[in-house]
Amino acid sequence: MPRIDIVNGPNLGRLGQRQPEIYGHQGLYEILSALRKAYPTLQLEHFQSNHEGALIDYLETLGDHGSRGVVLNPGALTHQSYALRDAVVALTIPVVEVHLSNIYAREAFRAHSLIAPVAVGHISGFGASGYRLAVEYFIERMQQE
Ligand code: DQA
Repeated sequence: MPRIDIVNGPNLGRLGQRQPEIYGHQGLYEILSALRKAYPTLQLEHFQSNHEGALIDYLETLGDHGSRGVVLNPGALTHQSYALRDAVVALTIPVVEVHLSNIYAREAFRAHSLIAPVAVGHISGFGASGYRLAVEYFIERMQQE
């Protein structure tokens, strides 16, 4: 089964309870189990951490584990982490950046992503559907390979 990794950064473990008017009512594990149900022929691995270094450590291992793509929601690290950006650049597998909220329609500091220029693409504002749209992209991409 082709492996896709879903990686979530700080505060995303609290989805469902955290500002549901912005991030929705679904918890992270509900989002993941819906994805796993929708894509039974994919190996959907998941990692969430509130720690920048732990996220980078995880990303570093992915090429070796045969992952075909990363769906990355870096949380607030999107706007501030050069280290995470460097980790994305160093990856040999494609990364799609996902945000539940529309980062361009919120506070000014959120409108700038350090990750977007080094990702294959960027999805923002479609809520939990953003993860599914990113997985769809990887399915199409793998079909073309
Ligand atoms: C977020 C947007 C970020 O600005 C914020 O810090 C998050 C969540 C999103 O999914 O909309 O933690 O990445």
